[in-house]
Amino acid sequence: MASDLTLDKIVALCKRRGFVFPSAEIYGGINGVYDFGPLGAQMRNNIKNFWIKSIKSNHDVVLIDGSILGPEKVWTASGHIDNFSDPMVDCQQCKKRYRADEIDINKSCPNCGRKNWTDVRQFHMMFKTQLGALEGHSQNAYLRPETAQAIFINFKNIITSSRVKMPFGIAQIGKAFRNEITPKQFLFRMREFEQMEMEFFCKAEDSEQFFTEWLKERIAFYDSIGVDKNKLRQKEHSKEDLAHYAKMATDIEYNFPFGWKELEGIHHRSDFDLKQHIELSGKDLSVFDEESKQSYVPYVIECSVGLDRLFLTLLFDSYCEDTVEGETRTVLKLNPKISPIKAAILPLTKKQVESAQKIYNELKQNYEVTLDVSGSIGKRYRRQDEIGTPICFTYDFDSDTDNKVTVRDRDTTKQERISIDHISDYLNKILK
Ligand code: GAP
Repeated sequence: MASDLTLDKIVALCKRRGFVFPSAEIYGGINGVYDFGPLGAQMRNNIKNFWIKSIKSNHDVVLIDGSILGPEKVWTASGHIDNFSDPMVDCQQCKKRYRADEIDINKSCPNCGRKNWTDVRQFHMMFKTQLGALEGHSQNAYLRPETAQAIFINFKNIITSSRVKMPFGIAQIGKAFRNEITPKQFLFRMREFEQMEMEFFCKAEDSEQFFTEWLKERIAFYDSIGVDKNKLRQKEHSKEDLAHYAKMATDIEYNFPFGWKELEGIHHRSDFDLKQHIELSGKDLSVFDEESKQSYVPYVIECSVGLDRLFLTLLFDSYCEDTVEGETRTVLKLNPKISPIKAAILPLTKKQVESAQKIYNELKQNYEVTLDVSGSIGKRYRRQDEIGTPICFTYDFDSDTDNKVTVRDRDTTKQERISIDHISDYLNKILK
């Protein structure tokens, strides 16, 4: 990360290059909601694939895709109806609203300098809606504030329909919605966001060992995706800080330019959720242990990270500014597997466009590649650096005769010539 990197630089880059746009911008935008452009959508898919691979690599984990709308009973059982609120306070002078746990209300308003606070009130963070059209006949429903509950309410369906055996995990990637009092820091705290969650079901006596194991695995995931180790730390929750469902929790924090903040939460949820759903639904969600010939309600270890928050982390972590041939360049040193574009094919002049196009047409069958024909070669390199494209292949004056292209590496800017027949092998190597 560049030492003087600010959030504004990342926001500007995201907009300029089509990673992220403010949602409904032509109508003035909507606070805490963003749209992802072509590069952003591609990069998100790459992160999701990386996460799925990592979460399944050492344990049996199955994927599901649950619904976003849930009936009130689900959220009563999960405890969200009673507990999912943040304390809020308003400045009566300038009308600015704050989370009461983020400012000191014994002091003046940081915005207007006066001290004229409302009482602290609880603000419920779930989005409520009604199913059905007829008044009086409609049923309350909520947009899910976490994806996890779809896993718990489908637990029986999954164990009876799949060949899963305890201990095992159920993972899910999907949208979650929270009516945050103060959405802020771009993708860090949003009202509509995406979570990547995995609930690992095990016996109570093994749960603390799995908690430690998963925490270690998740740290290793960030290493494998290329996040700077020195910018990560673990923070154990004190009893007072624990969420209503958690018995133990450790956050994996990242050192953002706006401070150390939670990136991922590892929670020991005990048998809280399954027991709550057993009680409210009246259904048996226990499993039968062949060894002891007894039924039991499994304990759960949860790994939960926001896709958008990880996306933002990777942008911060990979952003660099350096000087190449006397010119400052911006470069995203992303892990090639995460880069939205894997390679750019650059014909040196108009005369090479047709041949370069042929290479591009072939490569695009298997890789995310781009053909960039406009501007000087230096300008085109900079354009690709700025979006994190790891490799550029330049088709030049000699390519017709020696059947080779010049390969230019994003991070070192070193160049070498390789045979056109070896381009795929070259790409496979860097994407391994
Ligand atoms: N199922 C557990 C759960 O939802 P959480 O700590 O509230 O726990 C998990 O959220 C992760 O989801 C966080 O670590 C963060 O990465 C992401 N997240 C939470 N609220 C968010 C928001 N408003 N905007 C973006 N990401 C958010």
